[in-house]
Amino acid sequence: MKVAFIGTGYVGLVSATAFAEMGNDVTCVDVDQKKVDKLSSGKLTIYEPGLDDLFLRNIRENRLSFTTKLEEAVKKSTILFLTLPTPPQEDGSADLSYVMNVTNQLATLLDSYKLVVTKSTVPVGTADKIRTALEAKGLRSGVHFDVVSNPEFLREGSAVQDFMKPERVVIGTRNPAAAELMRSLYDPFVRNGNPIIVMDERSSELVKYASNGFLAMKISFINEIANLCEAVGADVERVRQGMGKDSRIGSQFLYAGLGYGGSCFPKDVQALARTSKEFDYNFQILKAVMNVNEMQRENLLEKVVERFGDLTGKQFAVWGLAFKPNTDDVREAPALWLIEQLVNRGAKVVAYDPEGLENALRSLKVDIQWAKDRNEVLNNSDALIICTEWNEFRNPDWDVMKSSLNNQIIFDGRNLYDSQRVAELGFEYYSIGRPFIAPTASEKTSIQRAA
Ligand SMILES: NC(=O)c1ccc[n+]([C@@H]2O[C@H](COP(=O)([O-])OP(=O)(O)OC[C@H]3O[C@@H](n4cnc5c(N)ncnc54)[C@H](O)[C@@H]3O)[C@@H](O)[C@H]2O)c1
Repeated sequence: MKVAFIGTGYVGLVSATAFAEMGNDVTCVDVDQKKVDKLSSGKLTIYEPGLDDLFLRNIRENRLSFTTKLEEAVKKSTILFLTLPTPPQEDGSADLSYVMNVTNQLATLLDSYKLVVTKSTVPVGTADKIRTALEAKGLRSGVHFDVVSNPEFLREGSAVQDFMKPERVVIGTRNPAAAELMRSLYDPFVRNGNPIIVMDERSSELVKYASNGFLAMKISFINEIANLCEAVGADVERVRQGMGKDSRIGSQFLYAGLGYGGSCFPKDVQALARTSKEFDYNFQILKAVMNVNEMQRENLLEKVVERFGDLTGKQFAVWGLAFKPNTDDVREAPALWLIEQLVNRGAKVVAYDPEGLENALRSLKVDIQWAKDRNEVLNNSDALIICTEWNEFRNPDWDVMKSSLNNQIIFDGRNLYDSQRVAELGFEYYSIGRPFIAPTASEKTSIQRAA
């Protein structure tokens, strides 16, 4: 099938590559000339595990190409995926301007049957809006089209795996012919028997927001339990294990920490709250979910301030900038908020992230120092703050850490270590929702013995 992706970011590039891998002829459109040039020359613009091999193979086989010319892609393709940004506006609602701008352009470009698919996360009613706009904006007579909702559930960091083997594919359309076309496109991805679920457009649009809202709620819930654990002297890690084994609850998204970030959860929860308000529905849980999430990063900052008092002149090593491991995406990353707070209070920050450094340096509103090595940032720092749970942070070199840091102090926003063991290694270890254990060793020899 001939398919176009309009918007070649995280979702557009991964989905386009996956469809090319299944033998489709895929054209990617983007307004960013530099991005298109880089991709055309065989270089990836994002870090996503497993994407490089698929990407290069499909370029080589001429099934995947890139252009800035929307018209060229529209002419060539029958199925047009909109994978455009829908960022939050001041009032929390999703900014549909990217989607509607492209829709208005499509109205003048469609010259034969096209299936327009919204893969961007869009508010309820967007498919109807696109249909109305296409009809109103001078579409040539006799040209037929369908608008289908097809929300995307991939997770950055495991996006290729998620896309190639989706747990479910949701298709929103009331037209059986359009549903059939979408089914044939997705059938190769669900050979394992996972379902393609067809429903009306509005329900489909809401599935995405409901899913992200629910997952965000799980994160905020366990974070509240963590705060309660700190108050009552319980250990959230134990509570999580005890809860998560209940199959009705499940153990995923049940990790206490700095709260959710990224390009999806914060904006999607806000947009769902906004949609509810527009329809005069008071969605009470969502407000709490958002408040708890804000509070979580503030709690860690408070722990730092409580421990050090005045932060002027203090230096903090930060491990992790990406909003989660295995991605270079730093959008809405708690680490960036925390760093800005530290620097605004007079502290110096030296940061390290395996993949997210470049994006972080572009996004941060304050100056920081950085290093390309996890150990280098520890030198002369007054404490280490862990913001992202990259695997390489799970087993640090405790000797290096102890000799490099000015003080043996760790603030762990992701609960990576066993509190007892770290205390025995001689560190003052502040984590989330777990009892503080006073350090018991301070000599290097005891570190070696305990490790
Ligand atoms: N990132 C995720 O993990 C994820 C997962 C599921 C759904 N989504 C949703 O998918 C959508 C896209 O997200 P993303 O993370 O891929 O965004 P992104 O910012 O990474 O990519 C969007 C791309 O669209 C391009 N673009 C902007 N205007 C354009 C235009 N007029 N024509 C062509 N290209 C244009 C941008 O240059 C950019 O490359 C959003 O609605 C998001 O909520 C994202």
